[in-house]
Amino acid sequence: MATTDHTRRGFLVTLIAALAGAAALGRYLSPALRQKRELLKVAKADLPPQGALVYREERVALMRDGERVYALSLVCTHLGCTVAVTPGDIVCPCHGSSFDREGRVLKGPADRALQRLVVEDRGDFFHVLV
Ligand code: FES
Repeated sequence: MATTDHTRRGFLVTLIAALAGAAALGRYLSPALRQKRELLKVAKADLPPQGALVYREERVALMRDGERVYALSLVCTHLGCTVAVTPGDIVCPCHGSSFDREGRVLKGPADRALQRLVVEDRGDFFHVLV
């Protein structure tokens, strides 16, 4: 009888460990399940209608084109330098890549667009999430 209890206990411990491991792996592999973290909270009144606010420390630009608001990562997709936002485009000082104001590549060596971040419109503020 002791052997049966021992076997049952071992099975249950193994089952619980497997379920916990599967849950942890699922959270890691599924971006939708990962909790977004608030990176910035910006008053809507601070963002000009056709402008941008640059947060160099967070390496993020919050952009407005009329009613449309979006956020771009300022991490260059070539090797990770911080790009600079100018009135006309976005340029990387390290190797000369340039991007349009939507973050699309205009000139390499970068071959991928700048990452878009989630912007939530909540009352008087925009919240940028990562
Ligand atoms: S790191 Fe930006 S072009 Fe190389």
